[in-house]
Parts: sequence; structure tokens; C-alpha cells
Amino acid sequence: MYKKELNKSEALNLLHEKMKNENLRRHCYAVGKVLADFYDFFPTSGKLTKEQWEIAGILHDADWEITKDSPDRHTIELLEWLENYEVEPDLLEVFRSHNSKTTKLREPETRLEWTLECCDELTGFIVAVALVMPEKKLEQVTVDSVLKKFKQKEFAKQVDREQISQCEQKLGVSLNDFVSMTLSSMKKNSGMLGL
Ligand SMILES: [Fe+2]
Ligand SMILES: [Fe+2]
Repeated sequence: MYKKELNKSEALNLLHEKMKNENLRRHCYAVGKVLADFYDFFPTSGKLTKEQWEIAGILHDADWEITKDSPDRHTIELLEWLENYEVEPDLLEVFRSHNSKTTKLREPETRLEWTLECCDELTGFIVAVALVMPEKKLEQVTVDSVLKKFKQKEFAKQVDREQISQCEQKLGVSLNDFVSMTLSSMKKNSGMLGL
């Protein structure tokens, strides 16, 4: 069977076909943009290209709208859809490592997998911080305001702080730098994120 190459535009087509909610889509765009910037930040980023890092973000939650009532299917659906595409094996491993606490398919291991793991929660947290700013804009958010809210357990309490803080151990990037990079990447793309 002929398989389409999974480039960025095919990844966006797949996301848009499977996910209709604009806010959910924006989360996927945000994670994609942040990963693309981290690709440039790390001295070596492994075998995958910058475009593939962005695709990892774009598609990591592509099946979320469909699986939200059966979280054990999250990423399993996505992996089934991806059987119709030509996908770099290392990129498939990234998706297998997402939601792995539930699916048990693969523990995050590579730099990309850990960056996804940490920035996935952080992008959501930064959106929550932006939404309590007077104008509800990302441009008003600072690294300090994010770190301050980070320490307030009652603020956005569904966000797993531990998952984010692993950037220090798993990536060798301080929490401060990790927040700073993620925030500046989101600010660059604020239009796309509607913030
Ligand atoms: Fe997810
Ligand atoms: Fe996510």
C-alpha cells in the first residue's frame, strides 16, 4: 500500500481532521512550536529533524478529543492512524512514550521524549497564568510570574509540577531556563495561540 510521508503539512491535516476544538488544537500547536525551538537550543538533538520535533508536538494529543472518555486509548488511536503514513521509527517511539503511565508502551528516554513530557504540562500552565493577567495576554506573562504561580499549590492545581521540574534531572536544564525558553517560544507564536 502507498503510504504518505508524514511531513508537517500532513501532520496538521491529520490533526485538523481528528480534532475540532480550537483550544485543544492550540495546545498542540504550542507544544510543536516549543519543541521546534528546543531543537535549536540543544547542542545535539538526535536523529530526528527540527520538522519532526515540531510534528511530535503537533500530533502528541491528536487523538485526545476522541479518546478523552477512554484515556487508556490515548496515543493507541494515534498510532493506528499513523500506520497509513511513512513515519520515522524514532518519531513513532516518541508517540509510544506519551501517555505511557497509562499505556505502558514506552518510558520517555530520549531528549525529545523528555522535552515533550516537561513542556506538555508547562504550556498548559503558562496559558493558565496568561488567563489571570489583566488583559489575558501572553505578553504580560514573565518568567517570575510563572515561577511564583508554580509555587502556589492551589493555582491550576491539576498541573503536575513534578512532571515539569524533571527538566532539571532529565534534560540538565534549570527550571528557570526551561520556563524562559517555553514562554518566549509561546510569545513568538501568540497569534496562533489566540493569546
Ligand atoms: Fe496527552
Ligand atoms: Fe498535551
